[in-house]
Amino acid sequence: MARLLVTGGAGFIGSNFVHHVLENTDHSVTVLDKMTYAGNRASLDGLDESRFELVVGDITDAPLVDSLFEKHDSVVHYAAESHNDNSLNDPRPFLDTNIIGTYTLLEAARKHDRRLHHISTDEVYGDLELDDPERFTENTPYNPSSPYSSTKAGSDLLVRAWVRSFGVQATITNCSNNYGPYQHVEKFIPRQITNVLRGERPKLYGSGENVRDWIHADDHSSAVLAVLDKGVIGETYLIGADGEKNNKEVVELILTNLGQPADAYDLVTDRPGHDLRYAIDSTKLRTELGWAPRYSDFEAGLAATIEWYRDNEAWWAPSKDATEAFYASKGQ
Ligand code: NAD
Ligand code: DAU
Repeated sequence: MARLLVTGGAGFIGSNFVHHVLENTDHSVTVLDKMTYAGNRASLDGLDESRFELVVGDITDAPLVDSLFEKHDSVVHYAAESHNDNSLNDPRPFLDTNIIGTYTLLEAARKHDRRLHHISTDEVYGDLELDDPERFTENTPYNPSSPYSSTKAGSDLLVRAWVRSFGVQATITNCSNNYGPYQHVEKFIPRQITNVLRGERPKLYGSGENVRDWIHADDHSSAVLAVLDKGVIGETYLIGADGEKNNKEVVELILTNLGQPADAYDLVTDRPGHDLRYAIDSTKLRTELGWAPRYSDFEAGLAATIEWYRDNEAWWAPSKDATEAFYASKGQ
């Protein structure tokens, strides 16, 4: 049994991880979350209160971080500004949280000699051509495109430097696009599901040909636990579930599932600098740590996610109007 500190645990992937840990291990969890627009207390409803606590605070608050590191065995670091479109609008919070926040955690890990697992993204590697036979591996050079992905790349490099220079006990995972319950409606899949549920048409950026490599958030959680358990300090592991789909295919699946014509979507203004394709080779994680995803059927996982949004309108409705107003101002 370990005492885990989970930063960003009220966000999409962090809250899925907290549920996963409390259901599948005997660890206790403290969430440290600033409760930005992306944090949602309701994502943590129903947890066993005897093993779970929420601390509302900022990962750049060094005294707070210091006191929390002292009381925990390991730290899993999800907290971030996570949305590319927001980073194109206002990059500053991305620098504060993703760079200074990660630096603050690294200094506390160094001082208290605590294990830190850093959650990162495949976007640090830039993008691939549609017909490129190669996929991203742990050896692919960093080449981020957006303010968001460049701050995540910067945070990864800080972790690597603190391991090498100060002997901090850290690991890194870079995961592909997640889907599942509790994802903010600003993101692609929940935006399109909730549009259709409200009688609006899905919005595809550009031509809809961009490819993402989808993984269910619960599979991301099991991979992170595998790295916490068996990962080698200083190593990076890529997490992916062979889920490549272009955006048009995903929207067609959502429309068909909800009883609409497959072509009932709109093409809208493209994202500046829009990465074309991500694809992960997760051989290292699978062979060295024996991990495998449980959701190998994307259509079934997507259907369960659609059902979750249909059943949980009270969770997403409060954010929907403001999110759509932001997109409308960008012609998206
Ligand atoms: P999210 O935006 O849904 O959640 C982020 C959480 O961090 C929110 O609860 C927010 O309140 C909190 N937070 C933000 N700034 C904070 C601060 N300064 N101090 C404390 N808490 C703060 O993000 P997500 O999609 O769940 O992503 C979580 C992590 O996983 C991020 O590090 C992201 O880069 C990474 N990641 C995401 C994906 C994906 O598909 N969404 C894929 C790979 C990696
Ligand atoms: O690859 C991992 C990354 O995946 C994470 O690091 C990020 O935190 C996460 O937000 C996600 O980034 P993307 O930019 O790929 O995700 P997003 O959901 O914003 O968009 C997915 C794709 O869908 C992308 O090609 C842009 C497109 N899109 C998005 C929206 C919101 C649309 O076509 N229409 C939309 O309305």
